[in-house]
Amino acid sequence: MADLRNNFVGIKSPNPFWLASAPPTDKAYNVERAFKAGWGGVVWKTLGEEGPPVVNVNGPRYGAIWGADRRLLGLNNIELITDRPLQVNLQEMKQVKMNWPDRALIASIMVPCEEESWKAILPLVEETGADGIELNFGCPHGMSERGMGAAVGQVPEYIEMVVRWCKQYTRMPVITKLTPNITDIRQPARAAKRGGTDAVSLINTISSIVSVDLDSFSPVPSINGRGSHGGYCGPAVKPIALNMVAEIARDPETHGLPISGIGGVTTWRDAAEFLALGSGNVQVCTAAMTYGFKIVEDMITGLSDWMDSKGHQSLDDICGRAVPNVTDWQYLNLNYIAKAKIDQDLCIKCGRCHIACEDTSHQAITSMVDGVRKFEVMEDECVGCNLCVNVCPVENCISMEALAAGVLDERTGKPVDPQYANWTTHPNNPMARQAAE
Ligand SMILES: Cc1cc2nc3c(=O)[nH]c(=O)nc-3n(C[C@H](O)[C@H](O)[C@H](O)COP(=O)(O)O)c2cc1C
Repeated sequence: MADLRNNFVGIKSPNPFWLASAPPTDKAYNVERAFKAGWGGVVWKTLGEEGPPVVNVNGPRYGAIWGADRRLLGLNNIELITDRPLQVNLQEMKQVKMNWPDRALIASIMVPCEEESWKAILPLVEETGADGIELNFGCPHGMSERGMGAAVGQVPEYIEMVVRWCKQYTRMPVITKLTPNITDIRQPARAAKRGGTDAVSLINTISSIVSVDLDSFSPVPSINGRGSHGGYCGPAVKPIALNMVAEIARDPETHGLPISGIGGVTTWRDAAEFLALGSGNVQVCTAAMTYGFKIVEDMITGLSDWMDSKGHQSLDDICGRAVPNVTDWQYLNLNYIAKAKIDQDLCIKCGRCHIACEDTSHQAITSMVDGVRKFEVMEDECVGCNLCVNVCPVENCISMEALAAGVLDERTGKPVDPQYANWTTHPNNPMARQAAE
C-alpha cells in the first residue's frame, strides 16, 4: 500500500489533503466533521485582529458557472475573512488540535500591514498549539480595499516585510498564501522566500464577475441591485493554478521552496497533477463545499490505488516529477509530429470535427467519402493541432497518433498519407469535385 503520510515543512498529516481556509474550516463543528471524514489537515478560516469582527453581506455571497450537466465548474464569492470573534476561534482551534493531535491545523491570518498588528496576534495563535500559520495575502475583495489581502500580495516588498515580521515573532512555520491577481507569480514567491518564508501556498481566488442579471443589470451575486467583483475558484481555475505552481517550482530562485497547491482540486487526479508539478500537498475548498467532506475518501483511495499501480511508494516518489518536463516554447521538439485519427466504430457522425477543422483550422477532415457521410483525417493536411479531439463529443473517438520518424514528404517536410497525396485533385475533395463539374 502506498504511504500517503505527508510532511510539509515539518507539519505532519496522515495524508496530503488539507482543507483550504474558507467556510469549511470556519468553526470547530465543521473541522471536527472534516477530520472524522479523513482530511489530513485544515487551514482555519482567516483570522483578523482583535476587536469587532468584520461584517459580511446578508444576501447572496456566491455566483457560479455550470457545465451543461449543471455540474459546478466555477464558484465566485464575495465573502470576507471570519466574522466570528477572534477569541472564539482561538479557543475552538485549541480544543480541536487537542482532540486531533495527528492532523495538521494551520491558522490563516490577515491583519493590517503594520508590525504591531502581526506582533500582537502571533503569540495568541501560537498558544492554541496550531502547527503553523498561513499569511493570507490573497483575498481579492472586501479586505484588499482595506489594505490587506491581495493589496499586500500584489506588492512584493510588502510580502517580504510581513514575512520577516512573522519569522521574527513566531517559531511556527510560515506558509505565505499568494494571490493569482498578478502578472508574474514568481515575483511574490521570490519576495516571500527573501523574507524567509518556509513555504508558499497558491492560488487564492481570482478577481471575477461571473455574470450579469439582464433584467436588473446587476452583477451576480446581487445585493439589492448592486454587485461587486468577487473571488473565483473551483475546477475552472485549476489550469491557472497548475501553471503558477509550475512557474514557482521551476524558477531557479525559488526551486525547492515547498509549495502547497490550491485551486480546483476535486479528484485524486487533480491532486496528483499538483503534486507532480511540485506541490508538497494540496488544499481543497470548492470541491468540499460542493460535494461534502466525504469526497476525501475518494481522493485518498484514488491516489493510493494509482500510486500502487505505478509502483510509487511514497509522496516523495511523485512530488515534482513533472517539473523537468515543463519548458519554454522554444525548447519544444519541432520534429515531433502527431496526426489525428478517427475511430470509425466510435464516430457518431455528428460532424463537429469536420466543421471545426473546415471553418476554423486546416481543412483536414472529410465530410463525405465516396458519396457517403464519413469523417476521415487527411493526413497530409492535418497539422496535428488537436482541435478535433477537443470538440468531439465522444471520448477517445479521435486520438492523436505520433508518426514514426521517416514518413515525411522530402519535398514539403510534411508527413504524407499516400491516400491523400494529391488532395487538390482528389475525388473526395468537394472543392476538386466542384471544379471538375
Ligand atoms: C467562500 C469562500 C471563502 C474563502 N475565504 C478565504 C479566506 O478566508 N482565506 C483564504 O485564504 N482563502 C479563502 N478562500 C479561498 C480558498 O481558500 C482557496 O484558495 C480558493 O477557493 C481556491 O481553491 P478551490 O478552487 O479548491 O476552491 C475562500 C474561498 C471561498 C470559496
